[in-house]
Amino acid sequence: MKLSIIGTGYVGLVTGACLADVGNDVLCLDVDAGKVARLRAGEIPIHEPGLDQVVARGVAAGRLRFSTDYAEAVAHAAVIFIAVGTPSDEDGSADLSHVLACARELGRRIERDTLVVVKSTVPVGTTERVRAVLHEELAARGARHRVTTASNPEFLKEGYAVDDFMRPDRIIVGVDDPQAAETLRTLYAPFNRNRDRLLVMDIRSSEFTKYVANAMLAVRISFMNEMANLAEALGADIEQVRHGIGSDPRIGPHFLYAGVGFGGSCFPKDLRALIHTADTHGASAAILRAAAEVNARQRTVLVEKMRRFFGGTLAGRTIALWGLAFKANTDDMREASSLTIIDALLAAGAAVRAYDPAAMGNARRLLAGRSGLAFAPSARAAAEGADALAVITEWLEFRSPDFEWLAQTLRARAVFDGRNLYDPAMVRAAGLSYFGIGRP
Ligand SMILES: NC(=O)c1ccc[n+]([C@@H]2O[C@H](COP(=O)([O-])OP(=O)(O)OC[C@H]3O[C@@H](n4cnc5c(N)ncnc54)[C@H](O)[C@@H]3O)[C@@H](O)[C@H]2O)c1
Repeated sequence: MKLSIIGTGYVGLVTGACLADVGNDVLCLDVDAGKVARLRAGEIPIHEPGLDQVVARGVAAGRLRFSTDYAEAVAHAAVIFIAVGTPSDEDGSADLSHVLACARELGRRIERDTLVVVKSTVPVGTTERVRAVLHEELAARGARHRVTTASNPEFLKEGYAVDDFMRPDRIIVGVDDPQAAETLRTLYAPFNRNRDRLLVMDIRSSEFTKYVANAMLAVRISFMNEMANLAEALGADIEQVRHGIGSDPRIGPHFLYAGVGFGGSCFPKDLRALIHTADTHGASAAILRAAAEVNARQRTVLVEKMRRFFGGTLAGRTIALWGLAFKANTDDMREASSLTIIDALLAAGAAVRAYDPAAMGNARRLLAGRSGLAFAPSARAAAEGADALAVITEWLEFRSPDFEWLAQTLRARAVFDGRNLYDPAMVRAAGLSYFGIGRP
C-alpha cells in the first residue's frame, strides 16, 4: 500500500518505518526541515532501540522516503496518517493546532478519494473536526473527492517502540465507514497473523480508549507511589508488597513500580487533557486529579530524603545524578522527573553532576544556563567525589554498580535509589547508607 505519514517524531517515524518494513511504500513528512534533512542523510533524530535498522532497511529498499512537501505527500498516497504532536495548552487541554493545521494542508491539496487516519492522541470529537476541516477545504475549491477519516490511536512505548509496533497487544481502529475499516484491516494484517488483535469500534470510543488507557496506567503508578510512602511510615517494603499483589491475576505484575513519579510526553499531558475534558462536560475527574497531585508530590520525595540525610540543608553538597530521561531506553526528556529534581536540588544550594546514556543532548538544551549543574561523560565520572548518588532513571547500566567503589568515592557514602534498583542489604554491606522509595 502507498502511505503518507504526517509528523516524523517518536510515533510517526516508527509507524512509517515499520509499515515500510512489511512492504508498504511510505512517505514521511515533517514541517521540521532540519529533521527531514537529518533523516535523508541517514541520521535518526531520536534514541529508539532498533529503529535505525528498520529505517535503513526501508530507505535501502526504496520504500521509505522523507519530505517536507505536502503536495508530494498527497500525490504519493490515498491513505494518510496524521501523527503530529498534541502538547498541552495553557489550560491543560490538548493543543490541536498541529493536527488541524495538517488537516488544512491536506484538504487544500487532496486530488482523489483519500482516507485520513488520526494516529495522534486526540480528545474525543477531534477526528470529526479533522473531517470538517478537510471537507471545508475541499468545498472551498469545489473538489468532490470522497475523503473519509478514521481514528487509530498509537499504544507504543518509547524505548520499545519498534517491538510494540511490530507485535502490538491490540490495534484500535475507530471507523464509521466500512471501506475505511477494510483498508486498515488490510494494512495491519502483517501484524495480526498470530491472533486477531484488531479491535474495530466507533470513532469516539477509539479516541477515548487511548486516554482511558493512559489514565489507568498513570493512576496505577500514583497509587503505588502513595502506598510506597505509606509503607515507609509503616516499616513495610513496597518491593515485597509489589510482588505480593502483582501475583494476583486481577492485578498483574506490570506497572506497579514505585519511584520518582511518572513523566514523559504522554501521561502528564494526557491526564491533564482528560481532566480538562471531564471539567468541560461537568463530569468528575476526582481520581485523575488525585493521580496528578500525587505525581507532582512524588517528584520531590527523593530530594526531601536527601535534605533529611544532610541534616536539613543541601547547601554546598554535590549530588551525582544517574539518569535524566523520563525512563530507560529513550532520550525523551519531556516532563522528566529529573527536571524537577535538578531544579529542587539547585534551589536548595546543591551542585548537581548528571549523566545519562542517551538524553544528555536534550537535557543540555532544556537545562541550559542552570548554574550549579554540570554534565559528566560517564556514570563513574558523575559519581567520583560527589557527596551522594541519586538514581533517577532505570537504565540497565546503572543496575549493578560497584558499591565498594561508590563507598570509597562518595564523601557522605549515601545512595538515593529513586527506582528501587538495588538490594538495600547489598548496598549497606558495602558501607553505604541506602534510601529507596517505600522501603524501610
Ligand atoms: N511518544 C510516544 O510514546 C507516544 C505514544 C503514543 C501516542 N503518542 C501520541 O502521538 C502523537 C505524536 O507524538 P510524538 O511523541 O511522536 O511527537 P513528536 O513531538 O516526537 O513528533 C511530532 C512531529 O510532528 C511534526 N509536526 C508538527 N506539526 C506539523 C505539521 N503541521 N505538519 C507536519 N509535521 C508536523 C513535528 O515537527 C514533530 O517532528 C502525540 O499526539 C502523542 O500524544 C505518543
